[in-house]
Amino acid sequence: MTKRSADPRVDADMVERLIAAARSAAHHAYVPYSNFPVGAAILTADGTIVTGANIENASFGLTTCGERVAIFTAAAAGHREIRAIAISTPRHPGASPCGACRQVLNEFKPVDFDLAVMMDGPENVIVTSLDELLPMAFGPRDLS
Ligand code: THU
Repeated sequence: MTKRSADPRVDADMVERLIAAARSAAHHAYVPYSNFPVGAAILTADGTIVTGANIENASFGLTTCGERVAIFTAAAAGHREIRAIAISTPRHPGASPCGACRQVLNEFKPVDFDLAVMMDGPENVIVTSLDELLPMAFGPRDLS
């Protein structure tokens, strides 16, 4: 498999902007059961930043992760390509996206670039990519 690099627009300045947006989004998390807020900020192909936070439910299984709230919000607004995602939680800095969110991200990953994934940490931001987190993924192209 050829190794792809992140969109060059995801530079240090963009990492900082996305992390700041994810931190701020975490304030809107609805987490009465876990008390584990998660904020996410995604960068779409046209440069728009869309945020989300986890929303829990008294029927626990209906909880939706912050990452998926951000992805679905962007998709519902017409975006079809995600270049980067930043994730922030004050409860466990450096937490990485769950398997379900990785698969949902895979649906909207770019063809030409690797989707940059960054996790807010106590000292520094961890920057990785979807190809690293979900290698050999099953995706839309497998159905065509
Ligand atoms: N959570 C997320 O929002 N994103 C993840 O990738 C992992 C877990 C949320 C779900 C639940 O509201 C809380 O964190 C504890 O699992």
